[in-house]
Amino acid sequence: MSEITPYERLGREEGIRELVDTFYAAMEQIPDCAPIRAMHPDDLTESRRRLWMFLVGRFGGPNLFVQERGHPMLRARHMPFAIGIEEAGQWMMCMEAALQIHVEPGPFRDQLRIFFAQVASSMVNVAPPEEEA
Ligand code: HEM
Repeated sequence: MSEITPYERLGREEGIRELVDTFYAAMEQIPDCAPIRAMHPDDLTESRRRLWMFLVGRFGGPNLFVQERGHPMLRARHMPFAIGIEEAGQWMMCMEAALQIHVEPGPFRDQLRIFFAQVASSMVNVAPPEEEA
């Protein structure tokens, strides 16, 4: 029995490119996501390409990211940016918008959401401010 990979289910390179394009379009359009938009370069072309390469490989397609950029080390690569739970939530808001457009509701979409939420929370590298006494 052959298992269909998330890469194939999402429509391979083209489908994953569309997901990533919608993700970054949401980041530009959702006012609450302005803080994470501001962390990215003005021109998102390279950001789009990197996330696309990463997801193609991570979901079972050709390992484009590793070939070009080496081991992902995503947490280390995000250390230059102050990412708290607010920022992780903003990232998920954009990805949720993309998932709603490109993936039909159901267990596959839920699995993708869980995967992205886990990776996003593992990027958190600043503690929330102390509660006022
Ligand atoms: C938690 C909130 C997150 C924030 C605020 C954030 C922000 C950023 C920023 C500012 C960059 C650098 C600009 C760029 O190269 O595009 C970046 C790079 C990147 N991010 Fe995120 N990110 C987050 C979560 C994630 C998640 C969940 C993933 C994967 C599922 C991811 C994948 C990537 C990749 C692959 C790169 C390119 C790394 C490189 O090649 O240097 N990010 N991110």
